[in-house]
Amino acid sequence: MKAFTSAYHYDKLQVIMKIFTKFGDKMIYFDNAATTIHKPREVIDAVVNALNCLGNAGRGTSAESLNASRVIYETREKLCKLFNAESPKQIAFTYNATMSLNIAIKGLLQPGDHCITTVLEHNSVLRPLYELEKYGVEISFINCDDKGCLGLDELEKFIKPNTKAIICTHASNVTGNIVDIKYIGQIAKKHGVVFIVDAAQTAGIIPIDVIECNIDILCFTGHKSLLAPQGVGGIYVRKGINLKPLVTGGSGFDSFNEAHPELMPSHLEAGTLNSHGIAGLNAGLSYLENVGMDKLREAVQELTWLFYQEIKDIDEIKTYGDFHSKERCPIISFNILDYDSAFISDLLLTNYNIASRPGIHCAPLIHKALGTINQGVVRFSFSYTNTKTEILYATKALKTLLRDIKNCIK
Ligand code: ALA
Repeated sequence: MKAFTSAYHYDKLQVIMKIFTKFGDKMIYFDNAATTIHKPREVIDAVVNALNCLGNAGRGTSAESLNASRVIYETREKLCKLFNAESPKQIAFTYNATMSLNIAIKGLLQPGDHCITTVLEHNSVLRPLYELEKYGVEISFINCDDKGCLGLDELEKFIKPNTKAIICTHASNVTGNIVDIKYIGQIAKKHGVVFIVDAAQTAGIIPIDVIECNIDILCFTGHKSLLAPQGVGGIYVRKGINLKPLVTGGSGFDSFNEAHPELMPSHLEAGTLNSHGIAGLNAGLSYLENVGMDKLREAVQELTWLFYQEIKDIDEIKTYGDFHSKERCPIISFNILDYDSAFISDLLLTNYNIASRPGIHCAPLIHKALGTINQGVVRFSFSYTNTKTEILYATKALKTLLRDIKNCIK
């Protein structure tokens, strides 16, 4: 079959698909790597409550202002515990992982510096780096094989006298493969190189210990597995690492100082914080602690493996990633024959009420490695709020879709 089957086949398929019954009216949400939409009740209540009673932290003496400061500090404490950081003060709030990564990359690297990164990275790492490359920052990329596994044996060979940082995602947002950050951290420490980790896909689902993994800077977002609303993220910076702030401005103290305060976390927090979002993050962290992150991870991994087992032997469905390791992010990306991933994703939504994310997922280099630049991949990303029934319904939907595609192209 030729790449990108003709419009005729697409039209015919659309007609056939219309006869299938939807899974009630309930949308099955398999796009949790983009954002989680089913937040715990506690998170919603915390945000609503915060909207009613939080003032501006550090900017007044009202009970509301003090309450905001308390909620913010308590959230730092919970994050400090989650990541085993040395102090809550080393965690600053941002708006998302992209902002944290920009703070880390642009605040650290100078012209003449060399940094090592990987082909798994999201554009939130790649684009700031490409920008800095124009000003004389050198970049080396660690490659991966056709399963998306990094060639970490090569890592040490890339290190040069001017290597300042290694920047790496904790897990690919396309394949779900987890990267061995403990090993990378050891190499970084051995060579005195700053280790920056993008935990956008893992914070709140895969344990992260910044001390054990020698992580110097950890960038994370709140709205995925940490269950917070969108618009709140954070950055952990190890004591002693000096970052030039990306944004300067009001800090609520030391106002006669013409320079932005150097004290963490204010050093990286200019202007009013999103205390309403942080209150939601606080409740998300409590939820993870009360229910147990391990329990939630096991539940979602079980669903992920069930889905994989159901589709892995179907020749016409190609999955991407390394499925040898049991521990992986709850992501499975696939393609059906050589159909455009957006077309399949659209059919899944319009005919089966299954939400997925097709295309390139802002991670262009991994698609080059997987050979999916033109087709993209259909990404299913699961949550513990999904059910076994949904997984089995989705696998049945894929099998039916495949049967109809085959009937169309006979
Ligand atoms: N980076 C997010 C994703 O992978 C938005 O979908």
